[in-house]
Amino acid sequence: MLSIDLSGKKALITGSTRGIGRAIAEYLASAGASIVITGRDRSRAQEIAKELSDKYSVPTFGTSINLEDPNSVRACCEEIQSKVGDIDILVNNAGITKDKLFLRMSLEDWEEVLKVNLTGTFLITSFFVKDMVKKRWGRIINVSSVVGFTGNAGQVNYSTTKAGLVGFTKSLAKELASRNITVNAVAPGFIETDMTSLLPEDLKQEYLKGIPLGRFGKPEDVAGAVLFLCSPLADYITGEVIHVNGGMY
Ligand code: NAI
Repeated sequence: MLSIDLSGKKALITGSTRGIGRAIAEYLASAGASIVITGRDRSRAQEIAKELSDKYSVPTFGTSINLEDPNSVRACCEEIQSKVGDIDILVNNAGITKDKLFLRMSLEDWEEVLKVNLTGTFLITSFFVKDMVKKRWGRIINVSSVVGFTGNAGQVNYSTTKAGLVGFTKSLAKELASRNITVNAVAPGFIETDMTSLLPEDLKQEYLKGIPLGRFGKPEDVAGAVLFLCSPLADYITGEVIHVNGGMY
């Protein structure tokens, strides 16, 4: 019987205090991986880490990180390296939106989203990839979005970062393949989380009409694709994007 066993692997998931990141952490823990939870809130990250270690009997560690600030990223990565050691699986999940029509979008709106979604991903990946290269094994999964492929009014800044992550994924996959490190992306559609909870109900109903499977996604729908990409079932897949969107694209 096929089963996914990630015991012995250490996984770091950014933005795993809630939503999609939390579901990914839960799925990887249930497959036996050690888990590092990070988010903006340190005590929340520690709380989730404890919950997962109690539930799945795997080692966990929780800490805060502010992806907007390169100094915070470095300090947090060093803390993780000293307390946990090398990371085998890195899931770049944290992301923010700052939606506005382009004509009203300020440089600040643009830069803030780029800092977290793209530069944050660059910084954290640069730090942990070195140990993966030395060990000649690693799995990097970046969380993109359907809007990086379709575009979306009001999200020029956000969709730019999500399309950018696809270029990041494909180029890095080519650079790292000879070291047995795969780099892939998942592109969720409309997933029910805090990020989407504030959208007006009429807009949600409009989106729903465009989803052939007839429902919004759950964080677990995305977590399943990430678990697959971390597993030996996906050892020969790199530079790829898995769309998890109920058929909307
Ligand atoms: P969420 O807003 O529920 O959770 C975001 C997580 O990122 C939180 O843990 C938060 O602490 C962390 N985070 C935010 N800013 C941060 C910063 N400056 N430094 C460090 N951590 C930070 O979001 P959700 O919905 O779970 O989204 C997760 C990822 O999935 C994001 O990259 C998002 O763009 C992407 N996505 C979400 C979709 C959806 O419909 N919810 C659709 C497509 C992509």
